[in-house]
Amino acid sequence: MSTKRDILYVDDERSNLIVFEAIFEDDFEVHLADSAAEALVLLDEMPIPVVIADQRMPDMTGVEMFSLIRRKHPHIQRVILSGYSESDAIIDAINQGQVFQFVRKPWHRPELLTVIRRAMDAHDYALQNTRMMERLLVAEQCSLLGKATGQIAHEMGNLLNLLPLIEVIEDEYAHDERLLQLSSLARSTHERLDRLVDEMKSLIRLEPRQLELRLVSLADVVRELLSFLRFDRSIPSSLVLADLRCDPLVLGNKMKLHQVLLNLVKNAFDAIEGRPDGRIVVHLTCEAGQAFLSVADNGCGVPEEIRERIWEPFFSTKGDRGNGLGLDLVKHLVLAQHGQIECQSTVGEGTQFLISLPLVADPYVMPEANPLIAKC
Ligand SMILES: Nc1ncnc2c1ncn2[C@@H]1O[C@H](COP(=O)(O)OP(=O)(O)OP(=O)(O)O)[C@@H](O)[C@H]1O
Ligand SMILES: [Mg+2]
Repeated sequence: MSTKRDILYVDDERSNLIVFEAIFEDDFEVHLADSAAEALVLLDEMPIPVVIADQRMPDMTGVEMFSLIRRKHPHIQRVILSGYSESDAIIDAINQGQVFQFVRKPWHRPELLTVIRRAMDAHDYALQNTRMMERLLVAEQCSLLGKATGQIAHEMGNLLNLLPLIEVIEDEYAHDERLLQLSSLARSTHERLDRLVDEMKSLIRLEPRQLELRLVSLADVVRELLSFLRFDRSIPSSLVLADLRCDPLVLGNKMKLHQVLLNLVKNAFDAIEGRPDGRIVVHLTCEAGQAFLSVADNGCGVPEEIRERIWEPFFSTKGDRGNGLGLDLVKHLVLAQHGQIECQSTVGEGTQFLISLPLVADPYVMPEANPLIAKC
């Protein structure tokens, strides 16, 4: 099989075609076309890296043909052969990127050979570059997919608290054989999901996604969180208090706000571990066009030296018990809802994560004397 590379020479003069082929047939697989139309058909049929053409042809000029080739086959390198009289048109074409190089007629073998070899290299680099860009694009897409999956896995992990509900059903309907069978099915499904989420978490990282934003009552979000926590065995509900001073509306995503609070409450719960007086308070206040939602604990605090790092994905001080994904997710979700979040903490005294979100309507202010302090 021939290892020679393909080139195409286009010229309307039959004698020129014969001479060109004779001169380069030892170096290249030479294809010939005596018109632009024939050349364009040939290029559609087979990949040819370099085309050499005479500028003066009756149906269209070499430069006009190159402009068509460039549009259809951008990697093909184009060399034009021309006399002095067409210099201006050719210089324009080179400046517009239509032509790789211009070789003045009469051309000489060594010069043209060097130009064709350089054109061949330029073609190969351009092709490699495009393939690399395509691979980068695919890698970028895979990485985004992985990160999105990571977020979903993390959220699913937090929501997988169905076991207490299943137990209630089993206790209440212990006599009902069919319900017990169904609950056992629910249990095994729960276990499988739990394992799946763990596997996903170990594979992936997080990234923000476009959120659907609607008018949301922040007081409702807090109340729903408290109801949810009643069924979450991992956090004794008596430890969580809500201090709702107003009922602001923000443009947000209820489910994601729930996720934000749940992550912060779980972190707070970890922070108060081993403290008999440990407590967690969710505050909601409004001021100067902003709603402030905070989760405060009187736990161990965040040491100054890791205060910046806690937001990084996979940063955790909890060993096997933490993936270090919670705060990264929280921050992305808050920013995606046009909010801000900051951490204020004193080691040994406690930590407060303070979220501010822009208000979209005047908040209903709870009577000062009677703030809603709710225990869940
Ligand atoms: N309320 C808090 N008090 C003290 N330290 C905290 C608090 N919240 C977060 N941290 C610190 O920030 C780190 C990162 O928190 P993050 O929620 O991102 O991960 P994690 O809780 O370790 O794991 P997970 O992915 O399960 O949430 C924690 O490991 C902890 O050191
Ligand atoms: Mg966490």
